[in-house]
Amino acid sequence: MLIAQLSDCHVSAPGEEFTELYKTPDRLKAAVDHVNGSVNKPDLVILTGDLVNAGRPEEYEILRGIVSDLEMPYYLLSGNHDDNDSLRAAFPDHAYLPKDGNLCYVIDGWPLKLICLDTNIPGKPQGNLGEAQLHWLERELAAEKTRKVVIFMHHPPFNTGLVTMDEMGLLDMADFAGVIGRHDHIERVLCGHLHRAIQKRIGGTLAQCCPSTSHQVMLLLGDNNELGTTFEPPEYLLHYWTEEDGLVTHSDYVKDYKVAWTLKGGVM
Ligand SMILES: [Fe+2]
Ligand SMILES: [Fe+2]
Repeated sequence: MLIAQLSDCHVSAPGEEFTELYKTPDRLKAAVDHVNGSVNKPDLVILTGDLVNAGRPEEYEILRGIVSDLEMPYYLLSGNHDDNDSLRAAFPDHAYLPKDGNLCYVIDGWPLKLICLDTNIPGKPQGNLGEAQLHWLERELAAEKTRKVVIFMHHPPFNTGLVTMDEMGLLDMADFAGVIGRHDHIERVLCGHLHRAIQKRIGGTLAQCCPSTSHQVMLLLGDNNELGTTFEPPEYLLHYWTEEDGLVTHSDYVKDYKVAWTLKGGVM
């Protein structure tokens, strides 16, 4: 089983400053084309939030026009730049999206149980899961007796050392860690929001952030309270699951690079 994780597309409308600077729709289109044409073609794609930049209906229409070209099933999560009602309205055929309340759901039918959470607090850059969603998560984790579980959520449940981004972090990360700590079948917690590849062990599992299909956040660790973005290459993650080896994560650039050489069946 192969899952592609795309994140933080921040799709915006033509003429907007953001579109001019980052060309986010073009960059997402390039990522979709890359996924479709890859030799490592995923079984499904999960987009971990900040799907659009300002949560506006016209942005979701542009998003829909791009992601509907994906040649495999795809699933949408909400981030702090999203608006849950506009998102739902633009994807009425995505029956897995709850009709009201949090956009949290389970993707079933695979060798892993995939649980998607909603960390969106309307109008705020920070994230929060809330008591009701944490109870729901606890029940979903307890109900799974045979398979490993992978959790998807926009805000990572850990501080990263990028202090300005951490100020926009998950408010109830301690409560989330409490839930995670009570279960030993969580294979991974997969997030976005940071626009960088970052990993941290939490409880008995690994949490990690996926880079953006558009722009990345500057790597400024420690007491540096600056915030900036860079044009480091757009990336996405490929999570490869086998029963024997578990979940192994690779990152892939959206751009194709020239092959230096190949050798069939050889040892380097
Ligand atoms: Fe983002
Ligand atoms: Fe975000």
